[in-house]
Amino acid sequence: MTCPFAATGSALDQAPLAGPLPGAYPEAVNARYRSIEDPDTVRAILSRPDVFSPANALSTAVEPEPAALRILARARFALPEVLASASGPAHLAVRRIVAGFFSPAKVRAQREPILARVRGICSGLEPRLRNGESVDLAVELAAVIPAEAMSRLTGLPAPEPGRLKAWSQDSLELFWGWPDAQRQLVLARSAAQYYSWLDASVHQGVQRDDGNLYATLHQAGVSERQIRSLAYFLGIAGQETTSMLIQTALHAALHDHQWGALARADTAATAARGLVREVLGRASSVPTWRRVAASDARIGQLEFAAGQQLVLRLSGGKLGAAGDDSLAFGYGIHRCLGASLARMETELVLAEAARCLPLAVPDGPPAPFAHLLSFQAPTAVPIKYTAKRMLP
Ligand code: HEM
Repeated sequence: MTCPFAATGSALDQAPLAGPLPGAYPEAVNARYRSIEDPDTVRAILSRPDVFSPANALSTAVEPEPAALRILARARFALPEVLASASGPAHLAVRRIVAGFFSPAKVRAQREPILARVRGICSGLEPRLRNGESVDLAVELAAVIPAEAMSRLTGLPAPEPGRLKAWSQDSLELFWGWPDAQRQLVLARSAAQYYSWLDASVHQGVQRDDGNLYATLHQAGVSERQIRSLAYFLGIAGQETTSMLIQTALHAALHDHQWGALARADTAATAARGLVREVLGRASSVPTWRRVAASDARIGQLEFAAGQQLVLRLSGGKLGAAGDDSLAFGYGIHRCLGASLARMETELVLAEAARCLPLAVPDGPPAPFAHLLSFQAPTAVPIKYTAKRMLP
């Protein structure tokens, strides 16, 4: 029998965007984007935002259908450049305000609430597992923790978890996927609904004088239209990406037999830190990001024509082989503002879930990964209880 994880024997080898990028993308995407996989070239591109602009950060990966655009237009859906896709002083001004909400001290203060929540969820799962039920940690844990942390940090409400998950996944597929014409209509309707929810949430937020993120941006002169664009990006960037990272880390912990080390008090912190680093280097939830050449340019032997669209590898490939997670959150002036939050959340969920549910084992073979242009994660993390305690 051949091993399903031929490269290193790890469940992370299944990650579809860990291997050569053009091999994972459909022709329509490869025709539109040039994949850049060499880490030094990627770093050089990310350090020149004047030449390699982030303006395409929130574009659709393939040409949108006019009927889908009409649905979005009816909802007055618009994503003006404000943070991830903006450049220059306007980008920096907004970035500085948003960064203030995710300072090291504020992120650290989330430790206890996150631990308490994971403990609470696991104590509800324990009796179900003891009863012989299978539970999906992607739904029970990964989908819940990041949205709640974001809500506490920004001072803003989140939609209820099921709705948020459906809206986020639909928006990811609409902007980073290759949906056919019919599917685009379904996704555009969902994105329009999410946008309407955000419209009301932004409007209420800016009117409350309680220091929430939207009110703070508005007081600094950022328009409600721009705040809606930022909220749409942050809803995806701050929650769904972290949920997907937690899913991948739980998947690897269970299938690569690291649950025992995570469950033990003396090894938990080191095991969690090492596993999160490994996942980020080899199979991150955001293994690529986009740029567009604003003018003709050259990096080493490579030439770039103005207007050329690029997909840059941030995880997997050579980075994965070297165990290098230094690009996983981007690089330079647009580097992710939630990097330490995402790492901490994932480490805490891993260690606390293993401590609370030490008898958990995977329920069945590893679930397949789903992927888009810039995102990947296993579709589920089902567990069941075993009578035998698993220790390394
Ligand atoms: C696993 C979780 C996450 C991953 C892998 C990730 C990854 C990334 C990447 C690759 C970028 C683009 C960097 C670039 O253009 O050079 C980015 C930007 C960003 N991320 Fe994250 N992110 C994650 C979680 C979060 C969280 C929890 C937040 C919450 C604050 C967040 C907020 C942002 C923001 C605001 C930007 C845009 C920064 C700017 O344009 O100045 N991300 N992230």
